[in-house]
Amino acid sequence: MAAPSKSLRPALDAIGKAIDQRFDRLLTVPEDTRAPLFKAMRHAAIGGGKRMRPLLVVASCDLFDVPRERALRVALAIECIHVYSLIHDDLPCMDDDDMRRGKPTVHKAFDEATAVLAGDSLHDFAYDLLSHEDTHLDPFVRIDLIRALTAASGAMGMAGGQMMDLVAEHTAYDLGGVTRLQQLKTGALIGFCLEAGAIMGDVPEAERTPLRGYARDLGLAFQIADDLLDVEGSEEKAGKALRKDEDAGKATFVSLLGIERARTQARMLIDQAIEHLAHFDHRADLLRAIARFAVERDR
Ligand code: IPE
Ligand code: IPE
Ligand code: MG
Ligand code: MG
Ligand code: MG
Repeated sequence: MAAPSKSLRPALDAIGKAIDQRFDRLLTVPEDTRAPLFKAMRHAAIGGGKRMRPLLVVASCDLFDVPRERALRVALAIECIHVYSLIHDDLPCMDDDDMRRGKPTVHKAFDEATAVLAGDSLHDFAYDLLSHEDTHLDPFVRIDLIRALTAASGAMGMAGGQMMDLVAEHTAYDLGGVTRLQQLKTGALIGFCLEAGAIMGDVPEAERTPLRGYARDLGLAFQIADDLLDVEGSEEKAGKALRKDEDAGKATFVSLLGIERARTQARMLIDQAIEHLAHFDHRADLLRAIARFAVERDR
């Protein structure tokens, strides 16, 4: 695996900066006894992560000429949900991890109760962002965004996938089972990122098929890359503990296919994801570059 392709590096740096600045402005620590909660939210949300989901939102919004500042509010919302999912994923009752994004996890830097509340609050903040007219003037568009994010993050999406993942330690999932688990756990939030551009751009339902195909293939390839990194990645670069899946006895794409076939499968999915974009012109180049990055990444 190599460093991100040169063309994506500036875009990743720019989105990282844009997200950090906005979280810094929006998550001001109050001068009262809620201060630790805000500090924990800032600890998790600011200064770290690849920000791939926010970049996907911006890239899909760019296809449909959505104003950048509005796109960034949706990008912040999905990052809030993602960060909340990571805070809870790292808790002792779930994966019990001490490091995330090269820093102590929230329950290590603060305590468990504060970590639960920081996750809850970031979850709620996502919907606060989406429901505001600064995100879109049309309330129907805002409701569509909220419904899409709810479906992607709740029991029908990410949380449902996390449940399937929790029982993976004593459930013998086959390839179909692992695919479904990963589609919910990881694929659903990635799917929202692409859908968000179509919702913001008021794109007719029938024209959303290519973006949905792209999101599905990208989501699976991204998770195969995460499973490969878990086996052969560097903890220092990843900023989190690795070699956890095998220790936990969890079926993953890598445990079922083996390293080489998993890598081949991820590359094939990325070629397929890019194929879905065939009828978009150069404006989809960012999405093409993100797809390549998703499997070439080393963190
Ligand atoms: C990690 O996601 C959790 C998974 C869904 C595999 P990322 O690899 O996008 O984590 P960050 O945002 O870069 O920290
Ligand atoms: C976490 O999956 C996915 C979500 C938080 C929804 P993992 O448990 O595989 O993620 P890492 O490896 O801890 O980042
Ligand atoms: Mg987990
Ligand atoms: Mg984990
Ligand atoms: Mg993992």
